[in-house]
Amino acid sequence: NDPRPLVAGNWKMNGLRGSISELEAIIADAQARPWPVDLMICPPATLVCAFAKAAAGAKIAIGAQDCHAEVSGAFTGDISAEMLKDAGASAVIVGHSERRTYHGETDDMVKAKAKAANRAGLTAIVCIGETYEEREAGATISRIERQLAGSLPETIDAVKLVIAYEPVWAIGTGLTPTPKDVEQVHQTIRKHLVSLDKSSGPTVRILYGGSVKPSNAKELMAVPNVNGALVGGASLTAKDFLGIAAAY
Ligand code: G3H
Repeated sequence: NDPRPLVAGNWKMNGLRGSISELEAIIADAQARPWPVDLMICPPATLVCAFAKAAAGAKIAIGAQDCHAEVSGAFTGDISAEMLKDAGASAVIVGHSERRTYHGETDDMVKAKAKAANRAGLTAIVCIGETYEEREAGATISRIERQLAGSLPETIDAVKLVIAYEPVWAIGTGLTPTPKDVEQVHQTIRKHLVSLDKSSGPTVRILYGGSVKPSNAKELMAVPNVNGALVGGASLTAKDFLGIAAAY
């Protein structure tokens, strides 16, 4: 009983108001035929409200890319999970490697953000992944286990939690791990989830992310315990994004 797959697009710091045409093209396709997969686009925060409006009633969810752990307060420039919910998001990515690297986010901070997302009624898409050096040193699995132990909320729920495994060295590089390597990491993640919660653990979705394209999606999505993809660059056009979703 595999969970229903999710293909989520992370637009990162890309997109202006005019980019809504790509979302509209995805919506048109999503409405035209039944997809055996859930679809989600995570635009920059400036577009969440407009995208959520455009996607209302359509078979595509809108997510955000980060949130603050607090509900409100003197945190200039930050956005709370409650605000994202209010803007129409149903999910938020937390702990993306670009946040961990460029904003110094630690496992503790990621965990607080994941809990904040759940508190606000958003699904938390928690990202984890090893660096190239860690993989070379044979430390991939220990790194993944450490991030899982440190970044997840204490109580997990398959509706409120998605894990995204993104090897840092595979993000935006065109490189991907072998299906065997992906399988090993996803199996480790699944075991951890089941150890946390016997009933929810088997159905929490585990996405693979890092240079997913229409040309490699089929192979990666066929790996056991890969329940979808978190797509960066290739999610910016409706054609490539739907090309990846078509792997199912
Ligand atoms: O969140 C998405 C990932 O960082 C993957 O990015 O598909 O451009 O490699 P990419």
